[in-house]
Amino acid sequence: MHKAAHEELRLAKRMARLGTETAFEVLVKAKALEAQGRGIIHLEIGEPDFDTPRNIVDAGCDALHKGFTHYGPSAGLMELRQVIAQYVGETRRVNVTPEEVVVVPGGKPIIFFTILALAEEGDEVIYPNPGFPIYESMINYVGAKAVPVRLREELDFRLDVNELAALINDRTKLIILNSPQNPTGGVLEKKDIDAIARAIGDRNIAVLSDEIYSRLIFDGEHHSIMSIDGMKERTILLDGFSKTYAMTGWRMGYGVMRPDLATHIARLMTNSSSCTASFTQIAGIEALCGPQESVDVMRAEFQKRRDIMVGGLNKIKGFSCRLPKGHFWTTPASQRCPARLSAISAKATCVSASPTQSKTSKKHSIE
Ligand SMILES: Cc1ncc(COP(=O)(O)O)c(C=O)c1O
Repeated sequence: MHKAAHEELRLAKRMARLGTETAFEVLVKAKALEAQGRGIIHLEIGEPDFDTPRNIVDAGCDALHKGFTHYGPSAGLMELRQVIAQYVGETRRVNVTPEEVVVVPGGKPIIFFTILALAEEGDEVIYPNPGFPIYESMINYVGAKAVPVRLREELDFRLDVNELAALINDRTKLIILNSPQNPTGGVLEKKDIDAIARAIGDRNIAVLSDEIYSRLIFDGEHHSIMSIDGMKERTILLDGFSKTYAMTGWRMGYGVMRPDLATHIARLMTNSSSCTASFTQIAGIEALCGPQESVDVMRAEFQKRRDIMVGGLNKIKGFSCRLPKGHFWTTPASQRCPARLSAISAKATCVSASPTQSKTSKKHSIE
């Protein structure tokens, strides 16, 4: 063997600060057990178990046959950016131009790129906890200070705006909001969003509003901070196709932000993936412009499963579980075993630990 193979791996120091999303680690372990012939019901990874609706698959296949197999612009195909601008404009009741839209491979790169572009050492970034683990991972990675704002069960996992306000200071560069929220299913109400905007006031603080579950709300409506007067210019809206249209494997999401920031985020795309797959983007146009019934069917099914799962959990001695108002997880509380349970299937054999345990959770059990 070559001598270099035995030498120490000299990783950059920042790699020690990079976290992970443990659901993907559990998935690898579960797949390995499956390959050995063990029966596994997957509740670890957060994705719809439905197939992508037929009209979207057909549009993707058609695009392949028509030659959408080449590089495209880093910010996304103009046709898709126009459709997204119109969709976000209508759903968030703001005026959006295609220049404010950047299409990326999944919603996740918008988290990665936004934090990379805006936060650095000396900055503070406020993020929800428990929350999607990539927020904390990326804040630490860029050397900024991660400032958690607790989500409390007694508030149905809506954040306490007074607590948020107390965390804002001159070093706050970015606030991350997520509604409907992963993993708790908490949904911010209009009054919460208004109060958050008031707490930010006229400070030059950016808000990354992760709204990837905006179409998976069971009770009430979706409210975006982008809709509030004076907030659009400071908001980076994250949304995508993965959850709404069961397109997790297609890898496509987008950010909507002020055009000068969009240019920088597109430059990060040029430096990383070059562009999102072109045929995927054509399928994205069909997703947003085609029939929407499949979205309603999936949401109704998730709601049914939620009710079964939460009802069942609340019957177990020592467990309590709030009814999530959105998306497809439940967050039961237990003295013995805090866990995030997916409502994707009614039976659980493979679950992910709460994202609050992201740093230490080597202890997933697959039974
Ligand atoms: C809150 C939240 N934001 C973003 C993402 C990333 O979505 P995508 O798969 O489109 O990258 C996820 C995925 O689980 C999520 O839960």
